[in-house]
Amino acid sequence: MAKQIVRPARRISGSLEVPGDKSISHRYAMLAALAEGASEISHFSAAADCRSTLDCLERLGVKVGAKGDRVRITGAALGGLRKSRRALDAGNSGTTMRLLAGILAGQEFRSTIDGDSSLCKRPMRRVIEPLSQMGARILAREGGCAPLEIEGAHLAPIEYTLPVPSAQVKSAVLLAGLFAEGVTSVIEPVRTRDHTELALAEFGARVEHEGRAIRIHGRPRLVAKTLAVPGDLSSAVFFLLAALVLPDSQLVIHNVGLNPTRSAVLDVLASMGAPINLISVRSANGELVGDIAVRYEPLKGGVIEGNAIPQLIDELPALAVLGPFTEQGIEIRNAEELRVKESDRIAALADNLRRMGAQVEERPDGLRVAGRSAGRLHGAEIDPRCDHRMAMAFAVAALGAEGETVIRGAECAAVSFPSFFATLDRLVER
Ligand code: S3P
Repeated sequence: MAKQIVRPARRISGSLEVPGDKSISHRYAMLAALAEGASEISHFSAAADCRSTLDCLERLGVKVGAKGDRVRITGAALGGLRKSRRALDAGNSGTTMRLLAGILAGQEFRSTIDGDSSLCKRPMRRVIEPLSQMGARILAREGGCAPLEIEGAHLAPIEYTLPVPSAQVKSAVLLAGLFAEGVTSVIEPVRTRDHTELALAEFGARVEHEGRAIRIHGRPRLVAKTLAVPGDLSSAVFFLLAALVLPDSQLVIHNVGLNPTRSAVLDVLASMGAPINLISVRSANGELVGDIAVRYEPLKGGVIEGNAIPQLIDELPALAVLGPFTEQGIEIRNAEELRVKESDRIAALADNLRRMGAQVEERPDGLRVAGRSAGRLHGAEIDPRCDHRMAMAFAVAALGAEGETVIRGAECAAVSFPSFFATLDRLVER
């Protein structure tokens, strides 16, 4: 496994773009596959996760052509997917597995969907339960884990209240709702990212909102689209935080997705004193996009909890490593979902932060990381546990630490951001 050495830096400056948003890329690809005609998607995510989605769609008989970050998908139409002869492989990608499960539930054939050893440990009952209520038959391994064997059916619409705030579960039910006759409703007590709803509307489905309920009318005609994916805010955050860790830094990140159900991290940083400015904010295919300017300012730190958690769940690893660079430290509560991500992120954060000398209190639903007064971080050997966000978060911590840090198996960053270390290298001054 590749070891990445990260040396301390003086500052980070300049401008950059980040790869297309991973969540949106998955959705555009899947809906393009179900549409009539050829969709052109630009700035498609470079993430290995989104490649997994494209590979699965190809196995289901969809024509996919990719050149750089442009993807052309010739849709099979709602009833046109074909049974794959081999098991579908979602790789490391929970979004691929859970959202595709929704689509496969509505097919007239049987599919198997598998994943890597991390994905095969993650909870799938949360999608099996509602999709079974709609009529699909789904077999899982013990504990409700992948591989999943999905026998599609003529689905019946349901009204489903999400027991965990999960955009993946919401999306699986809404995508299955495309194949059901009638109106399928998902009620989300806590708001989660709404890319699926926005993308469904872009492709021509009828989606309605009423309070906390989202309703989809089944059996629509989906029509191919030309779409541009905004930059991934979850990737941009590592650079924002690098600028907030290194004095004198100044950065502009162009064309970043600013969807309000994703941008809670910016509010949290602003409330801690970060000078963040949004420039040229505009709407593209229903999604907000803009440039983010940030410069160094010492941050207060604080508590992150409650309904904000699902809206910054992927940014929590980066926010946690910010703790030792803030005045009061960072405390994360109500984030037990972090334990069932690509790794147990609470345990991985606590372990690796301690290796760098941070004072950490681990809790079942989060952690408390002490601030600056507990001492400066020092370089260490980091084990990201094959989790992309962990590798990138600790690269940021390493920039502000004393001495060299070694990140084991750092190539896992490619799961969401293959050019992360090269981009970082280009922007930091040592
Ligand atoms: C995602 C939803 C979130 C997030 C994941 C991507 C999506 O997962 O953590 O990285 O694209 O819908 P959950 O739905 O499990 O919260």
